[in-house]
Amino acid sequence: MKQIIEIAPSLLSADFANLAREIAKVESGGAHVLHLDVMDGHFVPNITIGLPVVKSIRKITKMPLDAHLMIANPGQYLDDFIRAGVNWLSVHIEADIHIERTLHHLRDNGVRAGVAINPGTSLSTLEEVLPLADYVLIMTVNPGFGGQKFIPSMLKKISRLKEIIVSNNYQARIEVDGGIGPGNLQDVLTAGAEIIVAGSAVFSSEKDASEAVREMKMIACGQTVCLG
Ligand code: DX5
Ligand code: ZN
Repeated sequence: MKQIIEIAPSLLSADFANLAREIAKVESGGAHVLHLDVMDGHFVPNITIGLPVVKSIRKITKMPLDAHLMIANPGQYLDDFIRAGVNWLSVHIEADIHIERTLHHLRDNGVRAGVAINPGTSLSTLEEVLPLADYVLIMTVNPGFGGQKFIPSMLKKISRLKEIIVSNNYQARIEVDGGIGPGNLQDVLTAGAEIIVAGSAVFSSEKDASEAVREMKMIACGQTVCLG
């Protein structure tokens, strides 16, 4: 079975004074999805963007918005993010004690339901909810900051999850996030990743962001099927 690959630039490393321009660049480079990192200073030590910014971004792009909530009490904010116009939403398994309800709620509201998992959290914590997830976001760095180094042992975690999904015939796709760029893209694809988040490799590259997206698509879409 061929994998359908999507490239999801993370806005975290973009120039925040020129968000519209940065978004237009990755859209013209053919990015499939726009990844938005929401951090609250509690679940992770950093604070980033919130609802007003998400609402404004919704008005200026046709790309699906993929919100990655790195916040405490995520269940409390689901409806706000749905109303803000996100298309995909992932919540950390470590932050949500009612993740089963969350995933149902997202699906019932027409949003792709994602469950995110930190590098130190076992895949076994996903067992009960895997059938309910549209995607699993495997963190390949500890969340909180862009520009960190990919944790190599996560390759095995990705392939183990892939095996579980395939052998149980689940629908969930695998998204990977943290330290990914042209140098290790092929490795995560081989392990089974399908949705590729890249922040600094796109927005802090010496190349233009649109060119950086094109380069990643060339690698990813050479042997596999890409959307668009
Ligand atoms: C980290 C965020 C990532 C981050 C990735 O906590 O979830 O989405 O922006 O940035 P890079 O690709 O630079 O590791
Ligand atoms: Zn992220």
